[in-house]
Amino acid sequence: MSIDQLTIRRPDDWHVHFRDDTMLAAVVPHTARQFARAIVMPNLVPPVTTIAAANAYRERIVAALPADSDFAPLMTCYLTDTADPNEIARGYDEGVFAAVKFYPAGATTNSDSGVSDVKNVYGTLERMQEIGMPLLVHGEVTDPSVDIFDREAIYIENVLTPLISDFPELKIVFEHVTTKNAVDFVRARWAETPGRLGATVTAHHLVINRTDIFKGGIRPHLYCLPIAKRETHRLALRDAATSGEAAFFLGTDTAPHGRSAKETACGCAGIFTAPSALETYTQVFDEEGALDKLEPFASLNGPTFYGLAANTGTVTLERSPSSFPEAVTTSDGEVIQVFGGGEQMSWRLA
Ligand code: DOR
Ligand code: ZN
Repeated sequence: MSIDQLTIRRPDDWHVHFRDDTMLAAVVPHTARQFARAIVMPNLVPPVTTIAAANAYRERIVAALPADSDFAPLMTCYLTDTADPNEIARGYDEGVFAAVKFYPAGATTNSDSGVSDVKNVYGTLERMQEIGMPLLVHGEVTDPSVDIFDREAIYIENVLTPLISDFPELKIVFEHVTTKNAVDFVRARWAETPGRLGATVTAHHLVINRTDIFKGGIRPHLYCLPIAKRETHRLALRDAATSGEAAFFLGTDTAPHGRSAKETACGCAGIFTAPSALETYTQVFDEEGALDKLEPFASLNGPTFYGLAANTGTVTLERSPSSFPEAVTTSDGEVIQVFGGGEQMSWRLA
């Protein structure tokens, strides 16, 4: 018997890119339509590294919300080689920073100010471990000689494993996992010491594999980092997300870029999934016969990991054909292609 309606606690998105200015204004309402809270990535130019910058950015996000929205942005601090542990700890203490984001320098979009050597931030990590502040990692090595499809797996061996052994109490989120290696690693770690290492899983990595990026030609709008891997990995991600296991939670990594930055000789990494995110996840859980696991994944596991209460309201999804516009346009005319835009989807957020 198939379920035609599903009511779950209001979900949260534990990984979003909102950008700034007119792009911010165009994208924020899409996340706020579905989610009560979101962890906001700090990779602006310049990055968000101070309490003052995070407060100002939060105000710009709130100003972009529809009038009736109670959506709450959760701010993060961008970790640099010269990070000040006192500023970070104070920001956490004052409820300004929910977490710290660790980009290895050069790993992805706007990561130039990221960490060049993990040893440079050991003092900060020490402090975060003490106060229970989560570290969110972009889990890819940056060595250009490492094959792009291997960067996450090698990161686990060369960076994450030593990091965990040096900071066994630190809470870490392995963001946007894309490999079976990562799924296996997170599961093993959770079995040993629950609640220390969690992982977010994006909607797009549950849907596309690396072959899709080249289906009938090169598809720049399916290019993101970490890049989609082969089918075996996609299936491992679907298994993890739909398992209901507490280690895995929803994080879209919605990453808008204007069409001109995507459709060019050297296009940016990032997929704009915000408009269609919840419907896409729901469709995946339905395909896997796991609609009963959508609520833990989307609404419960994340708050538990972060030590926050789950949301009190609910949302209802209906099995009913829906579709999303192909693109969202900013007030100054930039066009952002929507993941799944123009395609028929089988679920709709009521
Ligand atoms: O594809 C991506 N886009 N991956 C990231 O890690 C960053 C993001 C962005 O900011 O565009
Ligand atoms: Zn991201």
